[in-house]
Amino acid sequence: MDKSFNYIISPEISEFRRFSPKLKIGVLASGNGTNFQELINLSENGELDIDIKVLITNKDDAGCIKRADSAKIPHRIIRGKDFLEKELFELEIINTLIKFDVELIVMAGWMKIVTPFFINKFKNKIINIHPSLLPSYKGGSAIKDSLLNGSKITGCSVHFVAEEVDSGSLIMQAALSIRDDDDIDSLSKRIHILEHKILPQSISHAGFLIRSNFMENY
Ligand code: GAR
Repeated sequence: MDKSFNYIISPEISEFRRFSPKLKIGVLASGNGTNFQELINLSENGELDIDIKVLITNKDDAGCIKRADSAKIPHRIIRGKDFLEKELFELEIINTLIKFDVELIVMAGWMKIVTPFFINKFKNKIINIHPSLLPSYKGGSAIKDSLLNGSKITGCSVHFVAEEVDSGSLIMQAALSIRDDDDIDSLSKRIHILEHKILPQSISHAGFLIRSNFMENY
C-alpha cells in the first residue's frame, strides 16, 4: 500500500520522554494488536522506556496473545462471559493490573466499555486510542461510520478515559483525508499508521504527567 500520504499530528511529534525506572504499563486489547506490537518494538529497541508488565485480553483468539508470547510478556485472558456481573469482570482486571503493579493502563483496541467502577480505581491513569477525530464518531464502528457519513477528513485520537464513552481529555490527534475510493480496509490501514505514531507519543506524555504528579490539575 501507498505509505506516503498527507496527515497532520497535533501536538507535533517530539522526542520521547525518558523514564528511569521504565514506565510500567498494562495493555488491554481485544484484537489483532498492531498497536501493542508497536509498543513492544519501541520497548525492545530501547526507544521508549516502557516495561510492558501484562497484556489483558477478553478474546481467546485475539492476535495480540501471540504477540505477547513472542515478546515474552505475560498475558491474561479475562472473558466477560465468565462473570455474572460486569463489576466482577472488571474487578478481575483491576486485581490483575494491581498485581502487575502498573502505573499506566493503555487501551489499545479494547472493545469493551469500561464502567466508572473501573475508571475510578485508576483515575487519570487510563488512556485509550480511538479511530476517529473525537468527539466525532464515538463507538465501536468509527471507521465505517465516517465512510457512511461521507466525511472528507478523519483520523485517530488518544485520550484519558473518563466516565462517558470515548470522552475525556485529549492527548493527541492525527488527521488524514478520506479518499473517494476508500473502503474500511484501506482507510483503516492508513489510520493504523497514524495510530502507531500517536499512541507511543501519548504514552510518553501521560507517563510524564503521572511521574510528575501533574494529573491532579489535568
Ligand atoms: C485501533 O484502530 C483502535 O483505534 C481501535 O481498535 C483498533 C485496534 O487495532 N479501537 C477502538 O475502536 C476503540 N473503540 P490493533 O488491534 O491493530 O491495535
